[in-house]
Amino acid sequence: MFYGVDYYPEHWPEERWETDARLMHDAHMNIVRMAEFAWSKIEPKEGEYNFEWLDKAIEMLAKYDIKIVLGTPTAAPPKWLIDKYPDILPVDSNGFFMGFGSRRHYCPNNPHYHEYTTKIVEAMAEHYKDNSNVVAWQIDNEFGGTCYCDNCSAAFRIWLKDKYGTIENLNNSWGTVFWSQTYNDWSSVISPRRPASSPSLLLDYKRFMSDSFVKYQKMQINTIKKIIPSAKVTHNLLQFNQINYYDLSKDLDFVSWDNYPVRLSYDTTFKISNLSHVPAMFHDIARGLKKKNFWVMEQQSGAAGTNIVGRQLKPNEIRLWTYQSIAHGANAIVYFRWRTAVFGAEEYWHGILDHDGFPRRRYDEIKIIGQELKKIQNFLDDSSVDSEVALIRSFDNEWMFEIQPHAKDFKYIDQLKKYYKYFYDKNIQVDFINLYDDFNRYKIVVAPGIVMVSDEIAKYISNYVENGGIFLTTFRCGAKRWDNRMNDTSLLGPLREVFGIDIEEYGGIPANEDITVKVGSDFGKALSWYDVIHCKKAQSLGEYASEYVSGKSFFTQNCYGKGKAYYVGTIPDDKILDKMMNMVVKNANLSKNPITVVKGKVEISKRAGKSGVLYFLLNFDDEDSTVSVNVQTVDLFTGKTVSGTLNVKPMELKLLMAERS
Ligand code: GAL
Ligand code: ZN
Repeated sequence: MFYGVDYYPEHWPEERWETDARLMHDAHMNIVRMAEFAWSKIEPKEGEYNFEWLDKAIEMLAKYDIKIVLGTPTAAPPKWLIDKYPDILPVDSNGFFMGFGSRRHYCPNNPHYHEYTTKIVEAMAEHYKDNSNVVAWQIDNEFGGTCYCDNCSAAFRIWLKDKYGTIENLNNSWGTVFWSQTYNDWSSVISPRRPASSPSLLLDYKRFMSDSFVKYQKMQINTIKKIIPSAKVTHNLLQFNQINYYDLSKDLDFVSWDNYPVRLSYDTTFKISNLSHVPAMFHDIARGLKKKNFWVMEQQSGAAGTNIVGRQLKPNEIRLWTYQSIAHGANAIVYFRWRTAVFGAEEYWHGILDHDGFPRRRYDEIKIIGQELKKIQNFLDDSSVDSEVALIRSFDNEWMFEIQPHAKDFKYIDQLKKYYKYFYDKNIQVDFINLYDDFNRYKIVVAPGIVMVSDEIAKYISNYVENGGIFLTTFRCGAKRWDNRMNDTSLLGPLREVFGIDIEEYGGIPANEDITVKVGSDFGKALSWYDVIHCKKAQSLGEYASEYVSGKSFFTQNCYGKGKAYYVGTIPDDKILDKMMNMVVKNANLSKNPITVVKGKVEISKRAGKSGVLYFLLNFDDEDSTVSVNVQTVDLFTGKTVSGTLNVKPMELKLLMAERS
């Protein structure tokens, strides 16, 4: 197992490097990622390479038994290159070039950039091909961004030609007769700058941009593997949605992602039990990309912030987030960053050490974790997370909702979070899969927001339910074709039989208003959207209870073949969703967890290995909790046998190992 840190030796005097390496070693670290933004240090002037500093840093770390993940530095093209070829800078949707002075300032389709990317990657691979300290490569850093430059237009045309064959097909698919947008020939097609608004064009452009980065990454991977065939290659993903991560991950040897549970874009709260499901979900998404364990390439180790500073991580908090990562399938933990920078855009993005480089509480905690992990590292190497429930993340549908949110502030990912949280709170493990993956391994498949459903996918869904699967989807399912045009069939199209319903009408619920809903004797609220459902064969399990739709169904169950299909025509509040999902889960005959929560809130996750099953009990809450352990386990921290009732204190972690049943 790898345990380590993101390190920027180029930011610190060389005399300090040995102290850093020794402190890392003392904290039981064995891996460092570096160089991913160091282009101007490696190639200060065109063609003049300087690897001396990097060689020395690698050597110093090696002296302390620390291996290296080497980043290709292409997320930050140097000034000399931009000065030579200013057209490398990406162009925004208004047609303006981005300025120099930050990062990610390149167009993925720029031929000059391709040339210089290949040169720097080749030079690095040549230089390090025989260096056994380099154990993996990270391509670029957190791919993302959109460009509307002329090079992108040209590449877009090629992409479209490949997809549509003829310009007539393109016109038909996009419906360009609308507002006189018909193209007479390929050369007249361009990137959709503002205010382009055709949903099909915009979606194709997102797909094209995603493919552009996949291709750009592949170019780098090929360059490395031509020189080092055995190289292990990864890329550090973020929770972004600009790239289809299923596609991007295909070319990687392993997936890694950057986990900042307490960053400003999550809720900044001291009460972490309110948000612990969010990183859990992104771990599960990361694991689902290759259906394999993954790395956390940047694990938060201090207060986040650029110009505004978030709160500091509380005592024991780093430990909980670290073990949560592992519980969900991380096989390596790399903290971001070693020492907080004294200059640059991230002076306030805190690392393990503060600006003064002095080890304090956060370092001490990370050192303890490093020691502890030795107990489980062998187990982790060949263990996996197995789930009976799958949630679908479809990037195409996520993009569709970005183009047409349907309701104010609606976000596809929030629906995933909502359904995920139900399972998380019940300690039911979830896999994330693609629409095209095999559903049959799962007892329940939940697919919120799949508005675009191709005929092929409709068939998967029907077959899955027919063969005994439990499938749940939400409003707008199948309303659109895969090319983002509306279907001209009645709603649900080929899936009408499976759900046994008709959608009589629908509408958006005005912002700041809601419709009352009722499930059994419980009342709650529906937000954003309402489908008015007529049950043909299906049974109504929940109805609206206010407005002109009072008494009409919003939640249905249909028995189809050996399975059941559920349809949710709105966004219910969490309390009502809980009731609804309990009905769904009741039918699924999920395996019983031998460890259950009796009082309070505890995350219970497990990894199964050859030698046993490891349970992670994580109390993110500030209240005591009690669990009931109905299996013989050994507490790995005390070495004692544990079963029966057990107390898990606030911010406490327990690792319980059981035999394989
Ligand atoms: C990550 C990024 C790092 C650093 C960090 C803190 O998303 O990969 O380079 O910027 O955020 O902002
Ligand atoms: Zn471009």
